[in-house]
Amino acid sequence: MAMYGQPDLREVIFALEGDGMASQKLRDFLESINGKFDFTTEDMRRMVQSFHLEMGNGLSGRKSSLKMLPAFVDRATGKEKGHFVALDLGGTNFRVIQVELDGRGHARVNHTGKFVIPNAVMRGTGTQLFNFIAQSIEKFILRYEIELEKKSKLGFTFSFPIDQKNIVSGILINWTKGFTATGVIGANVVKLLEEAIRKYGLENIQVAALANDTVGALAAKSYEDPDCDVGIIFGTGTNACYREKTANILKLKNPVSGHMIVNTEWGNYSKIKSNEYDDKLDRATNNPGRQRMEKMISGMYLGEVARLVLSDMIRSKFIFAGCKARFSKGNFKTRHMALVESDKSKDLIKIEGYLEGLGILDTTHEDRALLKGVCRTISRRAARISAAAISSVVTWMDPKLRAKHTVAIDGTLYEKYPNFRRTIVAALRELHGDAAKRTKLTQVKDGSGIGVAVVAAVASRGKSRSV
Ligand code: GLC
Repeated sequence: MAMYGQPDLREVIFALEGDGMASQKLRDFLESINGKFDFTTEDMRRMVQSFHLEMGNGLSGRKSSLKMLPAFVDRATGKEKGHFVALDLGGTNFRVIQVELDGRGHARVNHTGKFVIPNAVMRGTGTQLFNFIAQSIEKFILRYEIELEKKSKLGFTFSFPIDQKNIVSGILINWTKGFTATGVIGANVVKLLEEAIRKYGLENIQVAALANDTVGALAAKSYEDPDCDVGIIFGTGTNACYREKTANILKLKNPVSGHMIVNTEWGNYSKIKSNEYDDKLDRATNNPGRQRMEKMISGMYLGEVARLVLSDMIRSKFIFAGCKARFSKGNFKTRHMALVESDKSKDLIKIEGYLEGLGILDTTHEDRALLKGVCRTISRRAARISAAAISSVVTWMDPKLRAKHTVAIDGTLYEKYPNFRRTIVAALRELHGDAAKRTKLTQVKDGSGIGVAVVAAVASRGKSRSV
């Protein structure tokens, strides 16, 4: 069935049959790929049930693939105010941002500094990583001639699983997304940051909050929209947080009444059936067995899943048979999939141009249609798993979806990948019919920067500092 104007493999098979071109072998192969990446309505429903079990286990401190980490902060009120420096570590770039909150729900980013994290730093020692961070802050301050007042407040977005006991400290549980810097797991990352910034003579800076990027997204959106109760990232990695009643977080030692944001770390959800390509990809990562859902959804991995399928097809001469083609590991990125899927031309000329750029010349229309179909099949599964995960979190809070929920979403995959959002919205309707309308998916720009400033402001008011 053609989905939302984009061909998936079944449509390609149909077209090939019409032309009388496809061999039985190719048809069988495509059918099997379609089956392996199918994520049916029934699969989505089953996933929601199992996700709820995992959420409950995680909240109670029982064994679960969902860590359900309390963030020691509630959402914003819109009244938070002040100037903040925000740090954002978690993807390929490290960013330093200066943010101003006006106390009336408006945030302004005054300056942004972007620093590419060298591979050697990502995978070196913790000291190197935190020195790089401090050095970048220093550069930022010098570049924009920022006058640091005594006790300038800093919010630190650290987009990895951290075990927190309060808003100003957190212990790294494990790295994700290819980071492996040594000596950080098990350590308090705020302490490591403070030591490094002291070395660089930045004593005036005071760390006021540590938060995950999903928490930043939720905080940033809730600053202007009181219905916001979920924050999601679809980017290099994927994750979500939501607003929970503290009474439900059974693993908290001294719960007080009220609400708190909980970081699910859903990238690690492990109950989705995987296929041979997922397993092959997983084995080749530096965290095998972990982040299994993230590896089916997020930007760091989707391109590689597609490449593994394409490599099989090239080997069997199902695609690019008349041309010299090889995709080696890491060469086909998610942004290339996005480009392929964005080609709406009849002759698929954008794809042709892209392939020529790689030295793959003389492709046929069938080659290009197959390539697009493979990408679509894989990205479609990613979006449908994402929809089931969103549904799980929202129905956990509100089983019949009676209330309005604003879901704040940040990340390049969501922002840029053709049809990703539409496929999620359609799948949510498939699950919930008209009730899905009350759950509004909104993009939040710069959640990690503005959001952690909001978190720092909430914390500075003395709310939810520790429980
Ligand atoms: C990974 C991290 C998680 C983060 C997500 C998005 O899943 O473990 O903490 O929120 O990536 O950046």
